[in-house]
Amino acid sequence: MLELQSVNKQFGGLRAVDDVNFSVQEGVIKAVIGPNGAGKTTLFNLIAGNLAPTTGKISFLGQEIQGKKPHQIACLGMSRTFQNIKLFHGMTALESVMVGRHIRSRAGFLAGMFHPPSSRKEERAIREKSFELLELLEIAEYADVEATSLAFGQQRAVEMARALATEPRLLLLDEPAAGLNIYETAEVARLISRIRDMGITVLLVEHDMSLVMDISDEIVVLSFGRKIAEGEPLAIQQNPEVIKIYLGEDEELAA
Ligand SMILES: Nc1ncnc2c1ncn2[C@@H]1O[C@H](COP(=O)(O)OP(=O)(O)OP(=O)(O)O)[C@@H](O)[C@H]1O
Ligand SMILES: [Mg+2]
Repeated sequence: MLELQSVNKQFGGLRAVDDVNFSVQEGVIKAVIGPNGAGKTTLFNLIAGNLAPTTGKISFLGQEIQGKKPHQIACLGMSRTFQNIKLFHGMTALESVMVGRHIRSRAGFLAGMFHPPSSRKEERAIREKSFELLELLEIAEYADVEATSLAFGQQRAVEMARALATEPRLLLLDEPAAGLNIYETAEVARLISRIRDMGITVLLVEHDMSLVMDISDEIVVLSFGRKIAEGEPLAIQQNPEVIKIYLGEDEELAA
């Protein structure tokens, strides 16, 4: 579904992403882990089109996408959430998800924000579909609450629902459990597994090792921009190089 070939991103003298190769098979949850500054978010920005690689090739569903704009890539069936939650003030949870229905094109996105769909029937369909996504993520009871006033975990769920509203085949989640307590994290883990079970492929950046080890089918480990390991959770936990970079940083993994 997704393939990265010798992908590089240079910021001045810094190789934030250094010759990274990996692929993501359809139907899996794949995680990208690594210490702070390893290049995980940069990698996501390259895949989603927020940044262009310095060199290298990225293919999505058989098409080369490196250097394409985010809305072009979204149209092909990729959607993402951000490390820092990006919800609009003054919009309810339901409205925030409805905006996602229009996010496929830039014009559509703005039109969706400022001009309600011309036909009532169309608006009703969008509203119903968006409400179904809130139900799926178990936050339908907050449909009419301002999204930015919700608890952190619920805001993450709204963001995920909004990303799903574009009907992606590949969903990129950048630190979906950041800032969540253990109960909320367990909840998010369950929701991500449910999304995968719906047939949506998930690529995930996450620091919470228990979440990563619980739900991922495969893991890629980055350190200083380079891929240092790739494999199933159990193999990654036992990989000496991985243990070395996490020693002192994550006792659970190092233990
Ligand atoms: N736009 C930019 N310009 C210059 N340097 C950047 C830019 N974006 C990221 N970097 C640098 O690239 C490196 C990788 O950053 P990145 O945000 O991708 O790391 P990360 O793995 O997501 O870290 P974290 O776990 O803290 O989110 C860091 O050294 C960072 O300072
Ligand atoms: Mg990051």
